[in-house]
Amino acid sequence: MTRDTFIRKIIKPAVFVGALGPLTWIAWTAYASGFGPTGPLGANPIEYINRYLGDWAIRFLLMALAVTPIRGLTGLKDIMRFRRMIGLYAFFYVCLHLSSYIGLDQFFDWGEIWKDITKRNYITVGMGSFLILAAMAATSTKGMIKRLGGKRWTTLHKGVYVAGIATCVHFYMMRKGVQLEPIIYAGICAVLLGYRLVKHLKKKAAARA
Ligand code: HEM
Repeated sequence: MTRDTFIRKIIKPAVFVGALGPLTWIAWTAYASGFGPTGPLGANPIEYINRYLGDWAIRFLLMALAVTPIRGLTGLKDIMRFRRMIGLYAFFYVCLHLSSYIGLDQFFDWGEIWKDITKRNYITVGMGSFLILAAMAATSTKGMIKRLGGKRWTTLHKGVYVAGIATCVHFYMMRKGVQLEPIIYAGICAVLLGYRLVKHLKKKAAARA
């Protein structure tokens, strides 16, 4: 088996299935505990589910942002073949997070949801991040790259940096007061974006020299 076939037929499907793990766990646990307040999801299962899905959305988003630096630092080119899948999984978990907010948390009360979006800053910022990720997911196909042209597509997909920052702000604002967890995620995001900034500045300096 060639390296290419091994990645295509074994590693890629394994990553695909593995990424469904968090969803499988929460769906099974919620079902098995019957959403009860004494089950493994704690006293407020809806809040637990919503936060759990948000956590996995930010994790996949940071994993997608980590792909390019890992390639740059290790020379592992093949890792680029997983970037789109990981990015789409981030969007998938964001959609589940949003759905759980709309359906489980707000019971489809659109008036209340609109009030939240316009009045609660962390929801406004979360929505901004969601819209950017939606635009990127919608243009993630090869056909869309062709239609937009490489340059425009690349510029649009730089939106992931803004989405990353907005998500960290969403997380930080949502947890009232100074808390360690959102700071750790923001720190990882800063390192991943900082890597790109340093590379960009070095390239510019080299071009000027
Ligand atoms: C579509 C707009 C969004 C809405 C309406 C929304 C809604 C919410 C709500 C209501 C909470 C707090 C739940 C609680 O009080 O217990 C929350 C937390 C969170 N959201 Fe979002 N969110 C949105 C977008 C996003 C995006 C785009 C991401 C990640 C890519 C994300 C990741 C998170 C994280 C990590 C948390 C904190 C979870 C924790 O405390 O462990 N959200 N979101």
